[in-house]
Amino acid sequence: MTEDYKLVLVIFGITGNLAQIKLLPALYDLAKLGMLPKGLAILGIGRKKFTNGEFREFTKERMSGRNPHEHNISTETEEKLLSKIHYLEGDINEKEIYKKIRLYLQEKLTCENKIFYLATYPFLYETIFNHLEKSGLNKKAGGFVRVMIEKPIGTDLKSARKINGLLEKYYKEDQIYRIDHYLTKEMMQNILTFRFDNRIFEQLINRDNLDHIQIIMAEEFGIELRGGYYERTGALKDIGQNHLLQMLALTTMQPPQNFTNEEITNKRIELLKSLIPEPRKIVFGQYEGYRKEKDVAPGSLTDTFFALRTEINNERFKGVPIYIRGGKKLAQTVAEVSFVFKKPDRRLTKAAELANQPNILIYRIQPNEGIVLRFLSKFPGEKMKLENEYMQFCYRNLKVNLPDAYLKILLDAFAGDQTFFIDAPELETQWEFIDRIGGKDIKPEIYKTGSWGPKAADKLIEADGRKWLEPSPVFCAL
Ligand code: BG6
Repeated sequence: MTEDYKLVLVIFGITGNLAQIKLLPALYDLAKLGMLPKGLAILGIGRKKFTNGEFREFTKERMSGRNPHEHNISTETEEKLLSKIHYLEGDINEKEIYKKIRLYLQEKLTCENKIFYLATYPFLYETIFNHLEKSGLNKKAGGFVRVMIEKPIGTDLKSARKINGLLEKYYKEDQIYRIDHYLTKEMMQNILTFRFDNRIFEQLINRDNLDHIQIIMAEEFGIELRGGYYERTGALKDIGQNHLLQMLALTTMQPPQNFTNEEITNKRIELLKSLIPEPRKIVFGQYEGYRKEKDVAPGSLTDTFFALRTEINNERFKGVPIYIRGGKKLAQTVAEVSFVFKKPDRRLTKAAELANQPNILIYRIQPNEGIVLRFLSKFPGEKMKLENEYMQFCYRNLKVNLPDAYLKILLDAFAGDQTFFIDAPELETQWEFIDRIGGKDIKPEIYKTGSWGPKAADKLIEADGRKWLEPSPVFCAL
C-alpha cells in the first residue's frame, strides 16, 4: 500500500553536522509534540553509502550517542520519526543525484508539496539551485515548492547578490526561506515585546542615558569537524554578519508601526543602514591549535574570533559606541547584549565602596535566558556600603521548555510563514556593512583557548577608556 504523502522535505547534506545536530533533533521534538505535518516524508541526500535501513540506524546512533537533546529519547517517537525518513546517496555536484531524486519522488513519495532544505556548505548553493532547475525538480505540480538556505549566504555583497539573483530567477520571494536561526530563538523574539509593549525601558535607551553597548556571542568549543566550512568563512562571516548583527538590530531598531514581517524587517534594515563602519576598529584572533584541526591549512589565517567597534548614525544613538565580539574556544558559551548606562550626574554616595559601577540592562540570549537589570543598592548595616544587585526575569522560573530555534524554523516553513526569515535587501545590507569594515589585510592574533580572545581585543576597547564586561555565569542559573 502506498502512503498518501502531503509534503516531502528534501534535506541536502543529511549526514552533515547541521542536519544531525539541529534538524533531526528538531524533527524529533516535533514528532514528540505531535506537530509534524500529516503525510510528511523526509528524503535525505548524502554522500555516504547507506540503504534506507542503514541510514536510519546511523541516525539512531547519533541521536542517542552524542545526544544533542537535553532530554531522553523515547524509542517510540524515534521509530515514528525514522519511519518517515528515506535516504539517497549521491554527489550533489552531479546531475545523476537529481535524476534519482526525481524518480524517487515520482515513484515512492508522490506528493505535490516539496521543501528543499540546503543543509550543505554555502558554496554549494549555486550548483544545487541550477541542478534543481535543470532537473525540473523546481516545477510546481499544483502544490508548493520552497527552498530553505542557511547563513552565510555569500561571502560578501557581490556573491550574496549573485545568489539572490539566482534565487529570484528560479523562485518567487514567497518560496525562499533564508535562515538565521537566531531570529527564532525565544529570547530574541521577546526583545520586541520587552521594548515596545512596556513603557519603562524604551525611553531610557538613547544617547542621553547610555555610555555604550556591548554584544557578545562566545563559545567554549572549537570548530569541531567543520574545518572545510570554517576555512572559507571565519568568525566574522560565520556569526558576525548574521547572528550578531541581528542581536544589534533587534535591540536598537526604531519602533515598528505594526507587528508585520515587512515592517519589522524594514526597521532592521533602516538600523543596519545607519551603522558606521570603522575599518580601523576591527581585530581578529585565532585560537591556539586551530591550524591542527581537521581540514585546516597549516598556515591558515582564518579568524576564529573578531571584535569590532561601530556606532549608529541616528539622532537617538549618535556617539554611543557599540563593541561587538564573537568567537570560538573562549572562556564561556554565552550570547548577550548589554546596555551600559552613564553614571548619574550627581551621586549621593560618591566615596562609598563600589559606588562607581554603572547600571546595565542585559538581554541574555543564552544560556540561562532572561533579562537582567543591574543597579546599586545599599548593603544592610551601619556603614554606607553599596553592592551591585540584579532584577532578573528568568525563563527558568516559568518552568516551560524553550523551543529550539530549528523547531520554529521548520514549523514556519511548513506553514509558509516567513516572518522570521531574511529577505534579499536585509541580507545585502548586512553584507554592505561587513564589506565596508574590510579588515582583509589584518592578520589574526593567536589567543589561548579558554581565554576571552586576543590582547588586541582588549586594546580595542581600552583605547576608549572602557573594558569588556565579564558575562556572569550566575544570571538566571538557579
Ligand atoms: C551557527 C554557526 O550559525 O551558529 C556555528 O555556524 C555556531 O559556528 C552556531 O556554533 C551557534 O548556534 P547556537 O544556536 O548553538 O548558539
